[in-house]
Amino acid sequence: MTPAATARAHTNIALVKYWGKADTTQMLPQTSSLSLTLDQFYTDTTVQFDSALTADEVTLNDDRLSPQASGKVQRFLDLVRPDGQFARVQSTNHVPTAAGLASSASAFAALAGAASRAAGLDLTRTELSRLARHGSGSATRSIFGGFAEWTAGTDDQSSVAHPIDETVDWPIAVVALVLNAHQKKVSSRQGMQSSVDTSPFYPAWKDVVAHDLAAIRPAIATHDFQQMGEILESNAMRMHALTLSANPPFTYFNGDSLVAMQAVQDLRDAGTACYYTLDAGPNVKLFCQTKDLPKITQTMADLFGSEHVIVAHPGPGIQFLSSPAKF
Ligand code: ADP
Ligand code: DP6
Ligand code: CO
Repeated sequence: MTPAATARAHTNIALVKYWGKADTTQMLPQTSSLSLTLDQFYTDTTVQFDSALTADEVTLNDDRLSPQASGKVQRFLDLVRPDGQFARVQSTNHVPTAAGLASSASAFAALAGAASRAAGLDLTRTELSRLARHGSGSATRSIFGGFAEWTAGTDDQSSVAHPIDETVDWPIAVVALVLNAHQKKVSSRQGMQSSVDTSPFYPAWKDVVAHDLAAIRPAIATHDFQQMGEILESNAMRMHALTLSANPPFTYFNGDSLVAMQAVQDLRDAGTACYYTLDAGPNVKLFCQTKDLPKITQTMADLFGSEHVIVAHPGPGIQFLSSPAKF
């Protein structure tokens, strides 16, 4: 039995989205992407390899996953298993699972950390980023805190993230509206593949991302909030246009998503700078400046109830914790 290892990783929200793979086996994306890691949403995962086990035992939030449900985790563990040993994996999501709040990002970043340490490896953060990518693309960026960019690359070696600004000395916040925390019908993986395969707009998306990345890097470097906001909002809408233009068409928006987007527009018209983005789910995230938080959270609480409004700030990169006693 190897010593147990525990890691914590936070979710990230993409400002310039990853939406499509160039290579599904190696998990190489069609484009680079850029995100902000958040302090309020994270996953804690403990891994222990044990030669006495005859299969992986995966527990998520106190539920033992069936072999089918833990397929992604098993395939991920195959990448680091010492002497073919199976593992006990215990994971807790402090984020709704599969609801478009990037549970797969924190989950596979934490699993990369815990599984590699349990296997006796001492990987650099770049190596952890590369490993995490094999579990979920967005996890590539969650190894790092603050703003991070995942370079698409051309092969396993070159497709990794790097930090752009880990300390984020800038009074910004992300207000997450948890409008529906249930599991989505179309996973990110299915949704992006369908977009790549069937949206006639996909070639244009690749140009959009190249343009947005080039423009958002200096906006972040110079703390140009308006410029950053305009880019992240338009990038998100253009990503969602790929789902609406797929065959068959689909959307991650629900009615409340549209209400929230309109409310942001109204706030902006009344002079409060804030901008929205959505990942693969109905839950809207607002980028704002901390000085405007009281006004924005009040507006959103009036619409959706204060229990559905979560204020997040820039979060840290991967952390290694001491393992729970029962391991
Ligand atoms: P999300 O928007 O939450 O990232 P995805 O469709 O990208 O949704 O990913 C959800 C997938 O991630 C599901 O297959 C789910 O089982 C897996 N997942 C989420 N959290 C964990 C975890 N802590 N450990 C292992 N797998 C997880
Ligand atoms: C909309 O990383 O969840 O959140 O790589 O198939 O696991 P897989 O997909 P995932 O997709 C994330 C899509 C997104 C945009 C982003 O995070 O960049
Ligand atoms: Co995901």
